[in-house]
Amino acid sequence: MRVLVTGARGLLGAEVVARFRAAGMEVIGTTRQSRPPASPSEEQAGEVPLDITQPDQAKSLFDALRPEVVIHCAAMTNVDACERQPQEAYRVNAFGAEVVASNCQRIGAVCVYLSTDYVFDGAKRAPYHEYDAENPLSVYGRSKFAGEQAVRTLCPRHYIVRVAWLYGKHRPSFAQFVLEQARAGKSPVVISDQIGSPTYVADVADRLLQLVHTDCYGTYHLTNAEPTSRYEFARALLQAAGLEIEPTPLPFREWRTPAPRPIYSALISWRLEWAGVEPMPNWRDALRRFLES
Ligand SMILES: NC(=O)c1ccc[n+]([C@@H]2O[C@H](COP(=O)([O-])OP(=O)(O)OC[C@H]3O[C@@H](n4cnc5c(N)ncnc54)[C@H](OP(=O)(O)O)[C@@H]3O)[C@@H](O)[C@H]2O)c1
Repeated sequence: MRVLVTGARGLLGAEVVARFRAAGMEVIGTTRQSRPPASPSEEQAGEVPLDITQPDQAKSLFDALRPEVVIHCAAMTNVDACERQPQEAYRVNAFGAEVVASNCQRIGAVCVYLSTDYVFDGAKRAPYHEYDAENPLSVYGRSKFAGEQAVRTLCPRHYIVRVAWLYGKHRPSFAQFVLEQARAGKSPVVISDQIGSPTYVADVADRLLQLVHTDCYGTYHLTNAEPTSRYEFARALLQAAGLEIEPTPLPFREWRTPAPRPIYSALISWRLEWAGVEPMPNWRDALRRFLES
């Protein structure tokens, strides 16, 4: 299977490239800039430049490479930057998805679009499944939801895969922030009552590998199992890393950010099991494997 991965130097994209290649697939990664590789893993990545918001560039690349599956990880992911620059957020997250999805359809490729728990508003206060109604609160959430809608309309052979609170080794995330603060002898300040689904990118990449072989197109939630708070996640991370420091809790209502966020955005999946894909592991198990790696 020939697979094209956009955002190949991102937190999830880099993991997808590595996992799919290890599974014997022919994988080509795309990067926005043609900057020199920053690490040996980037060097081996077999990358080509692509700005997903440039339709002509995308058309030529898709015609030249003719991938069978496109895993679209590239996005503007800084939630507060999206709030400050809405036009740029929609350009990358919505228009970029339109460009990718329409090119997939044109050449007959399956489109895998990575989306987010932030398409939900948090009012449910219980884990969201794939058939729950979306109501994004932020520009980031709305622009990613617009991207979902574009993929549904433009490329029927699609998987829309919602992930959340990602962490992994390829790019710094909340997990690294907590560990770095603690290693510097500081107690990391973390929101005590925001509930979600922390998710290890290696588990997402593994399940994506299974999903693309199912032909059960549609929307999937792909997050580690069991909801938890940022605070509980940080505590478990510090304990598992053997760092004897407690995080400092900050109530959600006192967290001032440009973009509104849902106080509750844990996800569960109904469709994964129906499609015959292994369930996602518990977040504590994922955390342990992340630290071992
Ligand atoms: N991180 C999370 O916690 C989280 C949560 C929910 C959903 N998601 C979704 O999961 C997916 C992957 O997220 P991630 O955290 O792995 O993202 P990331 O680390 O921020 O990587 C995103 C990549 O997209 C690239 N990109 C941005 N604009 C582009 C453009 N115009 N053309 C081509 N490439 C462009 C970036 O390139 P540069 O490096 O050049 O900027 C970057 O490599 C995204 O769709 C995101 O919305 C992430």
